[in-house]
Amino acid sequence: MGLMLRDLFLIATSFTATALASRAPDYFDFETVQLLPADLKRLDSDATALFAFDSKTQQDHFPRSPSHCKVFPGDRAWPSKADWGLLNRATGGALVKGVPRASSCYNGPLYDASDCEYLTSRWTDSYFHLDDPIEMLSPVYQGLTCQPTTQPNETCTMGGYPDYVINATNVAQIQLGINFARNTGVRLVVKNTGHDFSGKSGGAGALSIWTHNLKGVKYIENYDAPGTDWTGAAFKLGSGVQAYEIYQVAQDHGLMVVGGEGQTVGVMGGYVLGGGHSPLSSIHGMAADQVLSMEVVTPDGRFVTASFVENEELFWALRGGGGSTFGVVTSVTIKAHPTIPVTTSTFSFSTGGNITYDSFWAGFRAYLDYFIPHSDAGIYSYFFILPSNGQFTFLMQPVVFPNKTLEEANALLAPWFEQLNDLGITFTPETKYFDNFYDAWLESFPLEAVEKTHVATGSRLFPRENFQDKALLDQTFDAIKESSDAGLILIAFNMAPTLERGGNPDNAVNPAWRKAVMHALSSVNWAEDATTDEIMAARHEFTYKHMQRWRDVSPGAGAYLGESDRMEPDFQQAFYGSNYPRLLALKKRIDPRNVFYAATAVGSEHWTVVTEDGLPTENGRLCRVPH
Ligand SMILES: Cc1cc2nc3c(=O)[nH]c(=O)nc-3n(C[C@H](O)[C@H](O)[C@H](O)COP(=O)(O)OP(=O)(O)OC[C@H]3O[C@@H](n4cnc5c(N)ncnc54)[C@H](O)[C@@H]3O)c2cc1C
Ligand SMILES: *[C@@H]1O[C@H](CO)[C@@H](O)[C@H](O)[C@H]1NC(C)=O
Ligand SMILES: *[C@@H]1O[C@H](CO)[C@@H](O)[C@H](O)[C@H]1NC(C)=O
Ligand SMILES: *[C@@H]1O[C@H](CO)[C@@H](O)[C@H](O)[C@H]1NC(C)=O
Ligand SMILES: *[C@@H]1O[C@H](CO)[C@@H](O)[C@H](O)[C@H]1NC(C)=O
Repeated sequence: MGLMLRDLFLIATSFTATALASRAPDYFDFETVQLLPADLKRLDSDATALFAFDSKTQQDHFPRSPSHCKVFPGDRAWPSKADWGLLNRATGGALVKGVPRASSCYNGPLYDASDCEYLTSRWTDSYFHLDDPIEMLSPVYQGLTCQPTTQPNETCTMGGYPDYVINATNVAQIQLGINFARNTGVRLVVKNTGHDFSGKSGGAGALSIWTHNLKGVKYIENYDAPGTDWTGAAFKLGSGVQAYEIYQVAQDHGLMVVGGEGQTVGVMGGYVLGGGHSPLSSIHGMAADQVLSMEVVTPDGRFVTASFVENEELFWALRGGGGSTFGVVTSVTIKAHPTIPVTTSTFSFSTGGNITYDSFWAGFRAYLDYFIPHSDAGIYSYFFILPSNGQFTFLMQPVVFPNKTLEEANALLAPWFEQLNDLGITFTPETKYFDNFYDAWLESFPLEAVEKTHVATGSRLFPRENFQDKALLDQTFDAIKESSDAGLILIAFNMAPTLERGGNPDNAVNPAWRKAVMHALSSVNWAEDATTDEIMAARHEFTYKHMQRWRDVSPGAGAYLGESDRMEPDFQQAFYGSNYPRLLALKKRIDPRNVFYAATAVGSEHWTVVTEDGLPTENGRLCRVPH
């Protein structure tokens, strides 16, 4: 049997590679290594049962399991060591056992004081975690069961980390993993970088497919996108490519692409699948609007192209309908744009000294009057209001003026700055002109800290109409100010990724984005030693009181699923809007056996992670919600 499985992998490498090369010259090398139904014919029946593709006649043994839960470690139905061994051999040794990185801080075989000290010093740097197959950068949703510590006698457990990971470097491995999960009933998760705010890259007792090493980058100087009249420069990118990598490559070609501000975000993974906002969104729309084609392994284990001319409904859904729902994407072809000059400006002011509480808030209120004209002029801004013991800091970091000179940028800021000066608010902005997007991005956006341990975040996409009507704008302002007065941090963006800016695409991006001129985030902190009850009380107050005030002044608007509150009420409406019924219909058709799940993803209302402490985390078994 061992021999046969080694054969299986070899077949997947050699036969399919040559057979498919001529049919699909556009594949990356890693996409030519595929598993075909014929490969499985050579296996004995045990192995076939583990790796078979989905077929209509196949019995769906899983939903008939008495507990209506995914198979969990310790269950009789949990795959045997031999089965996991087969998966490892079939994938050419790509199966990795999940080991919490901070294990070296805890007594046990992995204890290593100097490694612990090292990882503790690097822990909040997202670059430190790049090559970790299981780390979740929002560790609250892992369950905080193995954080760096100076108390080695505490315990480190797996919590919401997956048990096994396929370190995918070709398509066949992803197909084998999906088939294995579907055929055994083990929970499947997909991890790219782990940046998701709600911990959607993790899951206790799961098999994870890790897309980080799918790093292909291919420049296509003149791409003629089938099914559209669009032609131009494009990149085909593996789903593991991160913002800092593709921005550099694009710059080398005199180009830029629509990606996020964060350096390490997986812009061809969860980011683009969930919509993706960008410093360029007020001129080019959402990241999902740039997509011309995708390669994807679907829940039945098959590898397909989704584009304007193939699997069109899947293609529609993958552009904004969220990750870990319709399959594993292996590469994405996107538009590239000629780079442009960019001016950025960074500044801050705080209450205290000459700046009173009232003048501070009058200064912020004055800014809101510019949200429509600024975003209509292509401007994007990223700003914070940081409360601290009754004092407030406004931090602009930065405001971005794509395709604007220093003079143009200064002229656009001047009316607001004059109002600020009249209020006694003086400061020295750092305003700088760059002759290309890459340098502006690299210099103007600081690297953000990750791994915050006692925080939850929520978002609201405030529509243009809130800024058109003075009374409504005053109410919007009051709602935001009340959150700050309550001590919550505001992180917000002024941008307008309208349909027109995005080239009038027909895709699944949350319609609330098209009307938005402000994407505002708020977050709640709780004490490090808070009890479960205290955490839930803080989160309830945040979600149902503070964020509800924001919802009340923007009825029918939405929230961003990529920077989401895991407890968002009516998440279907908030994250997907009027697209939800269409997305759910596709989900039922393409994933009838519920291979894919993520918190707040399409179809997730039928499932829940049952945690021992009752907190909304990945630290528990995934079960069907009882009817
Ligand atoms: C520091 C920081 C900065 C950020 N900046 C921005 C920003 O400027 N603009 C913005 O829009 N967002 C931003 N985000 C949010 C970010 O877009 C989301 O967290 C997004 O989900 C990250 O995708 P990922 O693939 O990197 O992360 P992951 O957490 O690995 O994945 C996110 C989700 O997508 C799924 N997924 C990942 N890859 C695939 C794949 N290949 N196929 C199928 N499903 C997949 C995962 O299962 C998971 O459900 C930022 C987040 C952080 C932490
Ligand atoms: C660990 O050791 C410290 C110091 O020796 C002690 O105070 C603490 O109670 C111990 N914690 C546990 C969980 O045993
Ligand atoms: C994943 O695979 C890559 C490429 O083979 C390898 O360099 C890396 O060390 C692997 N990572 C883990 C955690 O196994
Ligand atoms: C405060 O205001 C006074 C009077 O207008 C002015 O002289 C002083 O420079 C201001 N201080 C600061 C820190 O701006
Ligand atoms: C940049 O501005 C110039 C003139 O100001 C204009 O011709 C050009 O179309 C603009 N480019 C983009 C990408 O907006």
